[in-house]
Amino acid sequence: MFVAIDGPAGAGKSTVARATACELGFTYLDSGAMYRCVALRSLWEPHRELAELAREARIELSGTPSGEPGRVLLDGRDVSEEVRTSAVSEAASVVAADPAVREALVAKQRELIAEGDWVAEGRDIGTVVAPDAELKVFLTADPRERARRRAAELGADVGTVLAEQTMRDERDSAREHSPLETASDAVTLDTSGLSVEEVVARIVELVRAQ
Ligand code: CDP
Repeated sequence: MFVAIDGPAGAGKSTVARATACELGFTYLDSGAMYRCVALRSLWEPHRELAELAREARIELSGTPSGEPGRVLLDGRDVSEEVRTSAVSEAASVVAADPAVREALVAKQRELIAEGDWVAEGRDIGTVVAPDAELKVFLTADPRERARRRAAELGADVGTVLAEQTMRDERDSAREHSPLETASDAVTLDTSGLSVEEVVARIVELVRAQ
């Protein structure tokens, strides 16, 4: 069984996908963490070709059996905190527009998900990575609410986060390759005003109805 959760920045994908995977006993895949790792490498080695950095990157995402955030290892180094900074978020959406980077990371993702039951989240899971997913959810929320959630998480200013988020959403939606868009067979869930528990319960209900 494969559950795809896509949506814009701050819609609650990570929290919801992790909790859903935990509830169902499925494995969780944070595809955004992989783009963030390539972005971090591009900041470390700005003169290298992006596609090469993506192909070479040894990315390990540790499992989260209890629903806690997992660790992100890049070339053996724990970068879990480093990949969440706003500089890396910005760089991630830049490297993610490169088709060769996407090709390399989609190949790594498909290799990972070849076996077992998964809840995977990102921008192109239901459209590109796993178009045969049994359930596709497009998670969204009011932009101000999304910015408020992310600002609280980062301890940052809401106005600044909203400006950065708007730019990133535009770049992710306007790019030529695998833009952020709703799969035609996805269920759209607006999480504005809903608790994480309510959203997870709804997705679990949709999974059980399969
Ligand atoms: O958590 P948040 O939604 O803010 O970001 P993320 O899921 O960690 O993704 C970071 C960036 O990676 C996004 O802004 C996208 O540009 C890119 N991304 C992508 O293009 N495709 C994916 N499947 C996942 C992330």
